[in-house]
Amino acid sequence: MMDSQIAMIGLGVMGKSLALNLLDHGFNVTGYDISQQNCTRAADEAQPLSEQMDKGQFVLARDLTHLIESLVPPRVIALSVPAGPIVDSVIEDLISAGLSRDDIVIDTGNSLWTDSEAREHRFAGKLRFFSTAVSGGEVGARFGPSLMASGDKEAWNYVKPMWQAIAAKVDVNGLPVGPFESGEACAAYLGPAGAGHYVKMVHNGIEYADMQLICEAYYFMSCALNMSANEIGQIFSHWNQGVLNSYLMEISAEILQTADPVTGRPFVEVVLDKAGQKGTGLWTAVNALQQGVPAPTIAQAVFARAQSSQKSLRTVASKTFSAQLSSQGALDKKQVLSELHDALYCSKLTVYAQGFDLLNATSKKEDWGLDFANIAKIWRAGCIIRAIFLQDIADAYLTNPALDNLLLAPGFVEQLLARSPGWRASIANSALYGVAMPAMSSALSYFDGLRSDILPANLLQAQRDYFGAHSYARVDEDESLRYHLSWSCKTKQQIIV
Ligand code: 6PG
Repeated sequence: MMDSQIAMIGLGVMGKSLALNLLDHGFNVTGYDISQQNCTRAADEAQPLSEQMDKGQFVLARDLTHLIESLVPPRVIALSVPAGPIVDSVIEDLISAGLSRDDIVIDTGNSLWTDSEAREHRFAGKLRFFSTAVSGGEVGARFGPSLMASGDKEAWNYVKPMWQAIAAKVDVNGLPVGPFESGEACAAYLGPAGAGHYVKMVHNGIEYADMQLICEAYYFMSCALNMSANEIGQIFSHWNQGVLNSYLMEISAEILQTADPVTGRPFVEVVLDKAGQKGTGLWTAVNALQQGVPAPTIAQAVFARAQSSQKSLRTVASKTFSAQLSSQGALDKKQVLSELHDALYCSKLTVYAQGFDLLNATSKKEDWGLDFANIAKIWRAGCIIRAIFLQDIADAYLTNPALDNLLLAPGFVEQLLARSPGWRASIANSALYGVAMPAMSSALSYFDGLRSDILPANLLQAQRDYFGAHSYARVDEDESLRYHLSWSCKTKQQIIV
């Protein structure tokens, strides 16, 4: 019987996992992919599920007409295809195959948020375009992702029961629960078209920085404390029991304690130290630069990946400057580890502050009315940056939705006051021992910049006025009044109108 509630176009890793997750929760799903191999694999995995009483039925569509016929109206079609022009061409094909204006097409890929905005306008009147950014990788998509939805509000009403059923869930304490347990779903409607993908983009910027920070902690322990990968993994496991508890910390601990099946050496030591990237961290950094929002640690994480890829240059330079690498004497391991723990906590918090600052700036600019507490809540489980302190972030925004910067929330002020000495000591050690920690040091500089009433931009403005007559405002006048000093005689100040 043809009565699917949703179709999934694209049955690669993410599309197939989302389809199986929907079946698991009792929804009938039609699948379609141009790759026969992907179709066969999805059908093989769906069959045992569909044979169970309370699970949904899976049908493979022969073509897009067949897919459309298999759906109950209004038809809901999710796309899990590569971001970019393919999304548009699949939608055009669906329109040609007979999709109607009430039907809903959901882009679940890692699309650029401005593309999602453009698509809503482009397809208006032809179908209801909706977007849902998905985080959590393959396992998340299969057993509970974090879903960031945006676009047509009426479309959300149709999609909501499905998205809430398949999303990750948290209990009353904000802790993740199993896929079939009841709890608060990590799926939410975030705003007009583009908002969901924008929030996901910032999620990925935070993800880049969080990963880099953990890598830097590992690197310092390895280079300056001569600790083995296994020992560092054990420290990370221990840290994962406390305020640093997060998915990325958990997997890093596991990775570091894994041996290479070929050589028996620590697995990380056989992995080439050149980082790849698909580009979402870059999008975040570029967006922050374009808007003039300070998110240096996110940008630094992107640059760190870029520098890692200059492997041959680094190899030459490491020989040239090898004398720089001599350590400055033995360190007190226990103390240094405790300082590093605090440095990681403070840096991580700073990255979130930068990410939410960016969300705030864009929400105002685009008039999205983003709900920051809700965003923190749907990041508590399912997504890659899930961490125990997202509950604290949610609480901070629930207490004060107009919070200017996360670092000023009273609970976090307390943490920063207590932990910043360890942060400073760690960055000082990184400089003394010549261990590159670009993200952690940039986070500390951001924090110091934030807490400085006066910055040297006074001199900078004077420099600009000196060589380019770019004008300056005075501390003793209204900021809107602009002046230029006649630098040849230095006695005449002109007001600029
Ligand atoms: C997620 C991830 C995911 C991301 C990959 C690859 O939330 O599930 O952010 O969307 O695309 O992790 O990212 P890079 O290749 O850019 O590291």
